[in-house]
Amino acid sequence: MTHSTRIRLTDPLATAPDLTGRHAIVTGGTSGLGLASTRLLALRGSTVLIGARDVERAEAVRVRLLEENRLPAERITVAALDLIDPESIHQFALGAADRPVDLLVLNAGISSVPLRHDHAGTESQFATNHLGHFALTGLLLPSLTQGTGARVVAVSSALYKGATLDLDDLASTHRYSPGRAYSRSKLANTIFAIELNRRLTASGSPIRSFAAHPGMARTPLHATYPSAATRILTGAIARAIGREPDPANIGVMTAALNSKADPHLFWGPAGSKTAPDALGEPFRPIATDLSTATALWNTSERLTGIRFLS
Ligand SMILES: NC(=O)c1ccc[n+]([C@@H]2O[C@H](COP(=O)([O-])OP(=O)(O)OC[C@H]3O[C@@H](n4cnc5c(N)ncnc54)[C@H](OP(=O)(O)O)[C@@H]3O)[C@@H](O)[C@H]2O)c1
Repeated sequence: MTHSTRIRLTDPLATAPDLTGRHAIVTGGTSGLGLASTRLLALRGSTVLIGARDVERAEAVRVRLLEENRLPAERITVAALDLIDPESIHQFALGAADRPVDLLVLNAGISSVPLRHDHAGTESQFATNHLGHFALTGLLLPSLTQGTGARVVAVSSALYKGATLDLDDLASTHRYSPGRAYSRSKLANTIFAIELNRRLTASGSPIRSFAAHPGMARTPLHATYPSAATRILTGAIARAIGREPDPANIGVMTAALNSKADPHLFWGPAGSKTAPDALGEPFRPIATDLSTATALWNTSERLTGIRFLS
């Protein structure tokens, strides 16, 4: 099912429930938008497990967050997670399996990096941003099933609208464009979120899956472009029109917490730069085509070796 009308929610987090006793996982939860998610969820009472590549650095962020917000030590924890490394994903999921998960925020991402590949030869942005999160979600499904009205939120990008999935060239052997590869990974995030929701609903599961985006946000993400010109230009655009991480993250947190958030819409910020509304807009047909979603799901299962809801 897709929806054809937009929904705009003003102050969408005012009605969000107290999260005491809830358990959330945020990938890449120590920087930019992920840090904004971690802080907000922890302040509202949820425990937050952060998956991070650099555990030492993540620990330092955790301690700072706890101190600055006067939170109890157990509210935020950190575990190693490298989304391009299947063993790391397995170990992280194993460590998280001892409790229900109420919210999984698939936030971590790399953008527009030089051409690199994972162990199996898949281009690194697709491997990290999509395949890693696909595998993690599959491995955490039993914990999500034990959660209360659990939600999965994929942090995508409006750039998905102009992307091509091109499953026949996941190694990006033909003319590599860092930006195009990033957009493809975000299209995969979006298709996965929609298809996950469809499969969960069809199986009778109460878990819901959402895709959300931050618009243009002022985060370290834009510092990795290989071309200095692109780095400077994007940095200038982010400063001019981008939002700070907290307001930019409103769509992500609305998808995570608001009871009126509909998983059939793409959630992002709209209006004020500092206190935006959350806007749910219909997905473009490129993301809702069932045969494309099936092909992506099958390819993701084959490449990760993790099968679920199929
Ligand atoms: N900023 C924007 O304008 C914008 C726009 C649209 C969508 N987004 C999306 O928003 C999400 C968050 O990005 P951000 O802007 O907040 O950027 P960010 O500050 O650079 O955060 C990205 C996070 O992802 C983590 N990460 C990267 N590769 C990883 C890996 N292999 N395994 C585990 N974690 C990894 C990073 O960890 P390290 O600290 O270890 O590098 C970092 O914590 C991304 O999915 C991005 O595509 C951002």
